[in-house]
Amino acid sequence: MERILVIHSSVLGDASVSNVLVEDAVRRLLEANPGATVVHRDLGAAPIPHLITANVAGVRGEPITEVELTARALSDELIAELQAADSVVIGAPMYNFSIPTGLRAWFDYVLRPGVTFSYSEAGPRGLLTGKRVIVIESRGGLYSEGPAKAMDFQEPYLRTLLGFIGLTDVTFIRAEKIGFGPDAREAALATAKQAIAETA
Ligand SMILES: Cc1cc2nc3c(=O)[nH]c(=O)nc-3n(C[C@H](O)[C@H](O)[C@H](O)COP(=O)(O)O)c2cc1C
Repeated sequence: MERILVIHSSVLGDASVSNVLVEDAVRRLLEANPGATVVHRDLGAAPIPHLITANVAGVRGEPITEVELTARALSDELIAELQAADSVVIGAPMYNFSIPTGLRAWFDYVLRPGVTFSYSEAGPRGLLTGKRVIVIESRGGLYSEGPAKAMDFQEPYLRTLLGFIGLTDVTFIRAEKIGFGPDAREAALATAKQAIAETA
């Protein structure tokens, strides 16, 4: 049975553009796979703790303390959700030219040496394979072309993070110019929904 993991990371709740588009993508995926199971993680509404001195050994070391063991358990849980998924839909708004800190924290927990990537003499190798990823990018401005293109630290960063753990089958759906007024916003949503329909 198809399994879909859905990651939301907007902090804007009901006003979020990416949340709407993520749900549209999930609806399309369910149309194609009616029996699929869906697991949701909302990192904006229910954030996971950032890595700090007290808990980092849970992800990048040998956990001993209770706080470290709690971080290890969360890392195990988030990675298990990812490993179990056939398709992953990620809502990734652009905040300050990059991704929301909640999504960054999620990556801090799922990029784990020996579990989702390994190092060898040949260099790093991603250990999660055979999954399809759809990333919904909402942005106030225009970054796919024009003068702000060099300020896009969102899409190349996401491509690198996902590729590092073996997730290379990634489709990026962009909703750009959300901050350019109601008409531009509507046009961006329509374009993104069309791209979702063609992808999912
Ligand atoms: C904290 C914050 C930072 C933002 N930074 C940027 C930015 O650097 N560039 C940009 O084009 N839009 C920026 N925006 C606008 C968002 O990208 C835009 O509102 C988008 O729709 C956010 O997605 P969401 O509605 O799913 O949260 C920012 C919005 C917020 C709330």
